Amino acid sequence: MARPSRPARPAMPLVEAVAAYVREGVVRFHMPGHKGGRGASPAIRRLLGERAFRADVTSVEGMDDLQEPTGVLAAAQALAAAAFGAERSYFLVNGTSVGVQAMILAATRPGGRLLLPRNMHKSALGGLVLSGAWPVWLEPELEPDFGIALGVEPARVAEALEREPGAEALLLLSPNYYGVAPDLVPAVRLAHGRGLPVLVDEAHGPHFGFHPALPPPALRLGADASAQGAHKLLGGLTQASFLHIRPGRLPAERIEGALRLLQSTSASYLLMASLDAARAQMEENGAELVGRAIRLAGEIRAALARIPGLRLLDGRALGRPAAAWLDPTKVTFSVRELGLSGRQVELLLRRRFRIQVEMSDLFNVVLIVGAGNSEAEADRLVRALGRLAAEAPRLRRPETAALLERAARLPGAPSPEVAVLPREAWFARSRAVALEAAQGRVAAETVTSYPPGIPIVSPGERISRDVLDRLAAARAAGLRISGPADPELRTLRVLA
Ligand SMILES: Cc1ncc(COP(=O)(O)O)c(C=O)c1O
Repeated sequence: MARPSRPARPAMPLVEAVAAYVREGVVRFHMPGHKGGRGASPAIRRLLGERAFRADVTSVEGMDDLQEPTGVLAAAQALAAAAFGAERSYFLVNGTSVGVQAMILAATRPGGRLLLPRNMHKSALGGLVLSGAWPVWLEPELEPDFGIALGVEPARVAEALEREPGAEALLLLSPNYYGVAPDLVPAVRLAHGRGLPVLVDEAHGPHFGFHPALPPPALRLGADASAQGAHKLLGGLTQASFLHIRPGRLPAERIEGALRLLQSTSASYLLMASLDAARAQMEENGAELVGRAIRLAGEIRAALARIPGLRLLDGRALGRPAAAWLDPTKVTFSVRELGLSGRQVELLLRRRFRIQVEMSDLFNVVLIVGAGNSEAEADRLVRALGRLAAEAPRLRRPETAALLERAARLPGAPSPEVAVLPREAWFARSRAVALEAAQGRVAAETVTSYPPGIPIVSPGERISRDVLDRLAAARAAGLRISGPADPELRTLRVLA
């Protein structure tokens, strides 16, 4: 009787090429200088193990070149494109940041206009500086109880397109750091109606195409390009990301040219092999692995919901186009009712229980749950949070309670006038002035306060009274400030 044949394992051309090179035992008169590990410091060799060094190869015979891939890398990228529903996929070795920058550089020209949400990741500013395009900011919706910025409502995209008939591209964020994904379809329709490509920062959504309970991936919703962090939610090594495209509105040559400009000529085979393997793993077991993460995250969510004082971000808090889906593998809970800040809880979990979460802000703590997490770890987390919640009255600090109170009453972010191109602001001479003296001047730096992670001011923008008031309010509230050279915000850098 014929035995049922096992399905073939997905190929991993890059992993196989590196393994073959290691097996061959080649004498290495080539880069990298550690020569397969023997030339490396014993401390780093002990930390990483010999094998990592032996696999850290370079573009030698049998390998390929990320700048002009024709062999194993081209094959690995083609397999990635098929797995992620793209026409072409590219391996990124400087994180999703380089993908966001390449998309902007490919889609806009100096003096052109790019529509993008105000709560974009800071890599977009790098893209604007590189391309010389004007930003047309779109205000995201806010979730007031959790103090987080969501997606952009389609009406805001429509208004911006009306105001900026010459816009060159629309860049969207999906999902945000908390796993909230907007419905991209209406925005894609609006942009495509005017012939504009839609670029998506999908740093937190590389797993979306592999399980029906996850939000649909951006390309499936009509996006022309999407940058995904394989290191964030798949098994890729840190910095390993993908850029996927469906050329048409966005020529592949422009994307490829931008990537050649921005990426290393010595791309790491460790990172790229991890991308090859992450893709093959998702093809082979993606639904099962993601399913396991969803189940475990669901159990964590249910257990945390029973702890008095913790509030979970769930689908009920959302339910509008700007927040159509919630990635069930992310668990966001607010600790505000405990009178503690998210940061305080993050540090207590780490110092007392040796548990590290993904992120915290003033109100919330965010967990990323993956198939690599276990039931035992989930139990440990739930027990630790139960203890912290019970001890909250003793852990509370008067200044935190006042801060939570003030932050809850802060106004939303303003929409400042963009006076100078971000690129010009970047190259211009700047100087630090006292905060109050900055009124009417043009900002040379970004200031973002958390929550809600929306820049209050960005390079090239005129600093109005409103901006100054909000900066002062954020400072007085003791919010975490990111971006300026003086994080105390006593001074601000402006164009000289
Ligand atoms: C939404 C978003 N986009 C882009 C990035 C940049 O990704 P990377 O750190 O891989 O460069 C991040 C990083 O945290 C992010 O959160």
